[in-house]
Amino acid sequence: MLLKNLIAFLILFSFLLSEFLFPVFAQENYDAKVEELLSKMTLDEKIGQLVQKIGVNQENEKLIRSGKVGSLLIGTPGPEVANRIQKIAVEETRLGIPLLFANDVIHGYHTIFPIPLAEASSWNPELVKRASEIAAFEAASEGTNWTFAPMVDIARDPRWGRIMEGFGEDPFLGSVMASARVKGFQGDDLRDKTKIAACSKHYVAYGGAEGGRDYNTVDISERTLREVYLQPFHAAVDNGVASIMSAFNDLNGIPASGNYFTLTEVLRNEWKWDGVVISDWNSIGELVKHRFAKNKEDAAFIGFTAGVDIDMAGDTIDGNIYSPHLKNLVEQGLISEDKINESVRRVLKMKYKLGLFEDPYVDIEFFKNNPGKIGGKSYKDSIALQLAKESIVLLKNENNLLPVKKNIKSIALIGPLANNSEDVLGMWSAAGKPDDVVTVLQGIKNLLGNNTEINYLKGCNINDNDSSDFNASIEIAKQFDLVILVVGEERKMSGEAASKTDLNIPGVQEELVKRIYETGVLTVVVLMNGRPLTINWISENIPAIVEAWFLGDQTGNAIAQVLFGDYNPSGKSPVTFPRSTGQIPIYYYQKSTGRPIIEEDKYTSKYLDSPNTPLYPFGYGLSYTTFNYNNIRMDKNSIDKNDFVTVSVDVVNTGKFEGEEVVQLYIQDEFASITRPVKELKGFQKINLKTGDTKIVSFKITSDMLSFLDKDMNPVVEPGKFNIMIGGNSVDLITTSFEVTE
Ligand code: BGC
Repeated sequence: MLLKNLIAFLILFSFLLSEFLFPVFAQENYDAKVEELLSKMTLDEKIGQLVQKIGVNQENEKLIRSGKVGSLLIGTPGPEVANRIQKIAVEETRLGIPLLFANDVIHGYHTIFPIPLAEASSWNPELVKRASEIAAFEAASEGTNWTFAPMVDIARDPRWGRIMEGFGEDPFLGSVMASARVKGFQGDDLRDKTKIAACSKHYVAYGGAEGGRDYNTVDISERTLREVYLQPFHAAVDNGVASIMSAFNDLNGIPASGNYFTLTEVLRNEWKWDGVVISDWNSIGELVKHRFAKNKEDAAFIGFTAGVDIDMAGDTIDGNIYSPHLKNLVEQGLISEDKINESVRRVLKMKYKLGLFEDPYVDIEFFKNNPGKIGGKSYKDSIALQLAKESIVLLKNENNLLPVKKNIKSIALIGPLANNSEDVLGMWSAAGKPDDVVTVLQGIKNLLGNNTEINYLKGCNINDNDSSDFNASIEIAKQFDLVILVVGEERKMSGEAASKTDLNIPGVQEELVKRIYETGVLTVVVLMNGRPLTINWISENIPAIVEAWFLGDQTGNAIAQVLFGDYNPSGKSPVTFPRSTGQIPIYYYQKSTGRPIIEEDKYTSKYLDSPNTPLYPFGYGLSYTTFNYNNIRMDKNSIDKNDFVTVSVDVVNTGKFEGEEVVQLYIQDEFASITRPVKELKGFQKINLKTGDTKIVSFKITSDMLSFLDKDMNPVVEPGKFNIMIGGNSVDLITTSFEVTE
């Protein structure tokens, strides 16, 4: 008995030691080490830590050797090269400070997962976290110790090509996904050699670019900034994100990379965050082009004093904007060396936290032996496949055309994305290779084997006017019971510098769909794209539509399993689908206005020439089964503002398939001193239900879920009525309410 107690005590003691005391010691240790190292550094060496160069080349190697570079955007040259470059920093510089190796590991490194917009459609943060763990493992195995991800920009304008890199239009969903990805990349301890530092970008409001034109001006209220665009960054900070990247855009008259308010007042003073801020690619140099800085030296002054620690890819001949200008600024007494020290401390601390001083090199043998579950190909593929399946959004399924029976005799598979292994990787695919991609054609073959005859034809290209294969496609289609058409965008049509004014399916693809539809053969359309497209005709006429985004390596297996019913789709769109570009921006989180839309009343806030609803709303996605929501109830009808309340609902699977459903909770503050959105997503749960089963789903509603910023930007919960809405998308909801009392 005594021995048992002693053992229990020892376990508890060691737990407390490791959980609470050890991190404190470790932290203090870093601080002391950082100070010791800092005291030995010359001003040039300090500034060197604040400079990031691009790529492996002789010029950069020379600069590294002379202590003028603290980090390198390394690309994917492999671990041997990374170690060789690291050796220069560690063995050939005066102080041997290791380099940070940065990279854009956006949705996988070797194993390519769905693009982030698709990942968000899964509403499965645990799975998204696992994908980021794998990406971190693979990137770390080749020398990357710092990823420029997650991109957490809220995007409400699908003309903006970078919508594909983020988690869509909603700050709550965006925050959940941002947290998951930071945890996946960084784990609990960055010294773990399979983990890498994360970087939330682009700080801030880059996604609010006017007209959806990349790099364009953003002019929004402080309220929108705080309640919408800052939210996912705050979530990343709460989850210990190591770094943040300052954006290209002008924000309310102050460029984001020279913005003291956002970079210092919010990040440092309000959020007490002590990670590293890096500029985006020459975004400090671009302060001159904004006509916000007189010259490059002025740009260095503005960027640095606003709060940017590291200058990425500045464009001067001798190093970057920070080098040589920071030195001149210190010598002129315009910037104090103490201020330089503050930034250098943060960079050195990040290197200590990553364990680079103890172990700067990639342990090639360790990674080669594939230790642990993450190393195994089958594990990686299984996560990539599961995430790809859960990212697919079923937009339409008239008369339950899908799933297609597996014993179908023959299928015509047509379209420029049906056997495409390159575009489906999506933009920012790091070291991903088309050879590793399972195309739709291959995926269907994998699933159906030789029992079904599959006739594949490209039909047309993605983006030209050549319709010479139309007749052949039509002839083929006529001979089959079912046509699966796979159409959409090239990957380079979304991502950076890929804004568009026309969101129709490019080229002659829609014409091809129409011509095949005219034959009368049953047709399924699978869409692949980095943004919601305007698909009115398809939506009206084609009985079954599958939105696949870009799904990465497991594209074909995932799509086949959905089409043929091995997986019952559960994805929900993280963005609103507009009917036309004229409706943009369109998002669920809108205000009531003084004249809420009444279709038959002209003088209400609406368009004359278009339905005013979206084509598909935020949070929308069908399943092969149906879910019924009923019996919504609160455990209390009124609470005081520090209390909490629980809402419950019964969700019943009323259809013929087992399936997953994303149960979404929206809240509306019925009346407030500041106009509030018609509804705000505040919670969700992804549940699995067998046919006929019922699950009671409950959400605890706490005061932070009811609060908003008052006119002085202070969080407040105002007494009054709150409407609580629950359902499977942002429109089809059942409602109850409760009161908050004084
Ligand atoms: C992009 C960033 C990216 C950086 C480095 C920039 O052009 O805006 O998102 O991390 O390049 O590749």
